[in-house]
Amino acid sequence: MSNRSNPSGSAATLIIVAHPDLETSRINKRLAAELERRGNVTVHRLYETYPDEKIDVAREQELLLTHDRIVLQFPLFWYSSPSLLKKWMDDVFELGFAHGKGGDKLNGKELLIATSSGGAQSMYQAGGFHNYSYSELLRPFQQSANLAGMIYRPHFVVSGIREVSDEQLEKYAADYAAYVEGRLALSRTKD
Ligand SMILES: Cc1cc2nc3c(=O)[nH]c(=O)nc-3n(C[C@H](O)[C@H](O)[C@H](O)COP(=O)(O)O)c2cc1C
Repeated sequence: MSNRSNPSGSAATLIIVAHPDLETSRINKRLAAELERRGNVTVHRLYETYPDEKIDVAREQELLLTHDRIVLQFPLFWYSSPSLLKKWMDDVFELGFAHGKGGDKLNGKELLIATSSGGAQSMYQAGGFHNYSYSELLRPFQQSANLAGMIYRPHFVVSGIREVSDEQLEKYAADYAAYVEGRLALSRTKD
């Protein structure tokens, strides 16, 4: 895990990368590499850290406590995240930490979702091939953020990955860095 201090004084940012095979990844690998190259955020690769999928809850909670902006980055799998990210949330956002009595530890922190989808953006709308917008499909993350008292920010999506040229991917990588640093406020998609 790369873990560098943030010299700009802006929000300390944690990127949780949940891709089961980053070696063969094109999009998520490039996006994560761009952030590591710039070096002012903590990039945490879940599947590499926990090949046995046994999550160290105390360690993960400590990481959350020491960062203000949390980015969940993953390829869209069956309209949701890969399973280890779901498990991470199930285990780490526990009662007394993220919700319930004493569960105020994430209050005021930001939650951002960055994902990639095989389907084109135009397919993600009412009447389109995938019927629902990204915003609708990401609602469980949004409501989890609400419950935990976090501030949910607009998502970042790289869509239609087979049509993304190498040049476009470089532009996405730069945009992603801007998004993560809070310089690109709006999601890439209208919804
Ligand atoms: C198990 C699985 C499920 C997937 N489900 C979806 C999906 O629901 N919607 C979609 O647009 N793409 C889906 N895809 C395509 C992935 O999102 C796409 O391959 C990934 O975003 C590419 O990113 P990468 O280059 O970092 O691997 C799926 C791929 C796999 C392997």
